[in-house]
Amino acid sequence: MRNLDIRSHFEEYQDINELSIDDQELYRSAVEARDKAYAPYSEFSVGAALRLENGLIVSGNNQENAAYPSGMCAERVAVWSALSQYPDVKIKKLFITARSEKKEVKRPVSPCGSCRQTLAEYETRQKQPMEVYFTGETGIILKATSVRDLLPFMFDNTLL
Ligand code: THU
Repeated sequence: MRNLDIRSHFEEYQDINELSIDDQELYRSAVEARDKAYAPYSEFSVGAALRLENGLIVSGNNQENAAYPSGMCAERVAVWSALSQYPDVKIKKLFITARSEKKEVKRPVSPCGSCRQTLAEYETRQKQPMEVYFTGETGIILKATSVRDLLPFMFDNTLL
């Protein structure tokens, strides 16, 4: 037996103003999307904004349903929207933010497991890392330079 220690790397920013002007714009798009979320059941609104390699921003938010499992996360709404409109364009970055009606979201909101797997599919497909920025309503911003940092041992189609 031997131990394997797997490392993930993240950058931490104290404030949005530490980011480039382009990334601040992406953050604002994620906030705008978040504030249009349909989340009457959880009262937890998530916004995701993608920067495509052609410079365009595509955003999405969580869409809930009275039959709870029929809802969808912001990240997958955004990614599927982007890929359905621009199937051959690579995703450079993704920015995620969230807000709750119940309490202040002070720490970064990272994508759920299913969203990580979905992001992994497209990162593998585009053969180029996708940066993932995530934050709460307030507080620090974390940045992963690849989905791999969020999903070690990812299942991907190179196994099939
Ligand atoms: N949610 C997202 O949109 N993204 C995530 O990564 C985590 C959770 C949504 C799903 C649901 O509408 C609400 O947040 C509470 O789980």
